[in-house]
Amino acid sequence: MRGGKRFLRLALALALLVAVTAPLGGTRAALGAENLLVCKACDKSFYDIAVRVVEEMNLTHSVTVRRSSCLGACSQPPVVEFRGKVYASMTPEKLRSILREAYP
Ligand code: FES
Repeated sequence: MRGGKRFLRLALALALLVAVTAPLGGTRAALGAENLLVCKACDKSFYDIAVRVVEEMNLTHSVTVRRSSCLGACSQPPVVEFRGKVYASMTPEKLRSILREAYP
């Protein structure tokens, strides 16, 4: 069990590192101050949805949507990470709610 948590932490750290250091080719939205990571491994379609939600909410100057590798919740796609927290079974409505709470 302990090894599983260590693996999960390592996977999350690597995903964050990849997202931060990846070339900007994966970014379509304007560069904002905070990253919204979208796992591209388990659901390729949610990236475009996340970009659209960020644009609709006029948050492109605050949030950058980036594709990432596994975020550790593979069994419940789509998966995103925002402000260090991983959210599974993501929907556009859930994402709007998270961003609304973050940017009231
Ligand atoms: S493959 Fe998407 S969270 Fe693991």
